[in-house]
Amino acid sequence: MPAFSATAPGKIILFGEHAVVYGRPAIAVPVDKVRARATVIPEPRAASGSVRIQAVDIGLDQLISELPADNPLAAAVHAVFRAVGIQRSPAFTLRISSTIPQAAGMGSGAAVSVAAIRAVAAFLGRLLTDEQVSDLAYEVEKLYHGTPSGIDNTVITHNMPIYYVRSQPIQLLQVRQSFWLVIGDTGIKSPTSIAVGELRQAWQASPLIYEPLFDRVGEITQLARRSIENGESRDLGPLMDENHTLLQQMGVSSPELDRLCQVARQAGALGAKLSGGGRGGNMIAVAAEENAPQVAQALRAESAVRTITVRIK
Ligand code: MEV
Repeated sequence: MPAFSATAPGKIILFGEHAVVYGRPAIAVPVDKVRARATVIPEPRAASGSVRIQAVDIGLDQLISELPADNPLAAAVHAVFRAVGIQRSPAFTLRISSTIPQAAGMGSGAAVSVAAIRAVAAFLGRLLTDEQVSDLAYEVEKLYHGTPSGIDNTVITHNMPIYYVRSQPIQLLQVRQSFWLVIGDTGIKSPTSIAVGELRQAWQASPLIYEPLFDRVGEITQLARRSIENGESRDLGPLMDENHTLLQQMGVSSPELDRLCQVARQAGALGAKLSGGGRGGNMIAVAAEENAPQVAQALRAESAVRTITVRIK
């Protein structure tokens, strides 16, 4: 019997992380060089309803019936069953693999969900729209952290640069002139849930401190959108620097992220900031095409465990 496979890209947030949870806009792009893959292998000899989930990267190989209901992979499968109205499916194994660094702000959880949802739906012979896939992945995202904005599942499902405002219809971003980003990984794992949760507590305690920070991030994101749509990517550098300062003030940066941003600027980047949940994970730098290799090299020479250079178009 044939297998059913689907893949999904990683993602990077260019502007607006964290503030997006509080209703401000953010800009995100897919990163194709890293991907999650899900494969459904039919098991015609196993009892109907038997579903095995294998994810070698995290050492998981178990029947879905043995997993807690809030296991994100089990939740993704159950979400598809509910969406297509299936009580008991033919037996299958769902195999997951991914090259997206985990807990690093690159959307690995959402990408695994999107790939799994598409592969299981294909196996069941059901076609889900992108909106349905994204909505189901959002349900799973809530298990990773309680208050996701929805930006990760949206950009990863649609696989296009987006300007995103929570609970509003997706807006695709027109990139007038392509530009280059260097992504640098601190190698420090940092689950988004922790940074988001701690910022929420700080905001609840002192909204008057945090609301103006979120407002300014929203303004920066709007300016960045205009620059991207007008093909003025040089303007993105200072906007990234200011967005990074605001993220520092929110308490979600770290000495390692600050250092890599500084090193990128010294190596000729136009600007740099942390990307995603922060505290660890990845930073990004915008650079002219001819400077991107030296920015990447400087980041690795400092302490980045990996760099990825991408052209945004
Ligand atoms: C995570 O990729 C981005 C955050 O803004 C959280 C979210 O939007 O759900 C930190």
